[in-house]
Amino acid sequence: MVEEFAFTLPTEIQFGNGIIRTLHEELMNRGYRAPLIVTDKSMVATGLVDIVMEEIKKAGLEYKLFDNTVPNPRDYDCDKGAAFAKEAGADVLIAIGGGSSMDTAKAMATVMTNGKTAREWFDVELDVTSSPVICIPTTCGTGSEVTFNAVITNSDTHLKGNIFDPKCAPVLALVDPDMISKLPSPLVASTGIDALTHAIEAHVCTVATPMTDAVSIYAVKLIAENIVKAANEKDADALSKVMLASMMAGVAFGNADTAGVHCIAECFGGFYDIPHGVTNSMFLAEVSEFSIPGNPKKYAEVAEAMGVETKNMKDEDSAKEGVKKIRELCKELDIPKLSAFEVVKPEDFEYLAQASSKHCCNPSNPVEATAEEYLAIFKKVYEA
Ligand SMILES: [Fe+2]
Repeated sequence: MVEEFAFTLPTEIQFGNGIIRTLHEELMNRGYRAPLIVTDKSMVATGLVDIVMEEIKKAGLEYKLFDNTVPNPRDYDCDKGAAFAKEAGADVLIAIGGGSSMDTAKAMATVMTNGKTAREWFDVELDVTSSPVICIPTTCGTGSEVTFNAVITNSDTHLKGNIFDPKCAPVLALVDPDMISKLPSPLVASTGIDALTHAIEAHVCTVATPMTDAVSIYAVKLIAENIVKAANEKDADALSKVMLASMMAGVAFGNADTAGVHCIAECFGGFYDIPHGVTNSMFLAEVSEFSIPGNPKKYAEVAEAMGVETKNMKDEDSAKEGVKKIRELCKELDIPKLSAFEVVKPEDFEYLAQASSKHCCNPSNPVEATAEEYLAIFKKVYEA
């Protein structure tokens, strides 16, 4: 018997090379009058923001620009952004960038209509719908363009918090693979493994549903088949498939959850300011290996989707081969080692292990890990 489940996708998705050029029609059809572009200065320097500016002009509108988003955004960054947006009279936020810009825009949009500060909306239901946000992702990892959460660092604890409510979902995601054609290879690699982590964790987690299973396993397959070609050769076909997989993985984990890898990545990311995709990439294999006993069948499905020959194998054995495949991919993609980050200090691991075990996604991991178990994983990865 199929168990009861729900599936929500409030965001309209438009996908395709060049789809960003339809932005002016979207603005006109939706009746927006005062768009605010939300991005960071490095994105402005790439010239990609110019396309958004041109599109806004084509719609007969004037744009305002907030280019102060930062990696691993803190609560007060979002509060400042919300004040800026209100002052500008913005009626739609157009986020262009990676997860940090998109999550900042979602948090700004939440504060704009719900009041208070971004931090006060962590883990509680929003009063009202957030201001409209249109997302244009420029990396192939976060899936933030289709999720209804914003991951924001709590500036007091230096750990990440979550605004999580369908009321903060973007109204539109324009997912254009042309946006990642010039993305440096290491970023394609680390954000692509972030997407793989979303897909795997959505698939194996304790709250997966038949709908998320279907979406997540296809995303795993697309990433496994295309990530090396996309990152190392910048092959256009492979890049478009990884971009698609990244969005699909977002749909999957937005309706299921992430799990142990993200418990760690969000603690390390908030504490050390290490890029999210890189942190996930460093921990994905180890956490998967640890978690196999919680759901060997699902990990075997992941292995099969990654191209492992699993015929006549026990689920546990297939699952272990899948972990080997993850390690191979990370090696081919030149994912850095944890010990290469000077800022990372083993003496912090106990605090971070405690925090990871208390993370809201920990109960979703196939094996709910204790602080001691997280600590053992950190040591293994650090010494690898
Ligand atoms: Fe992630």
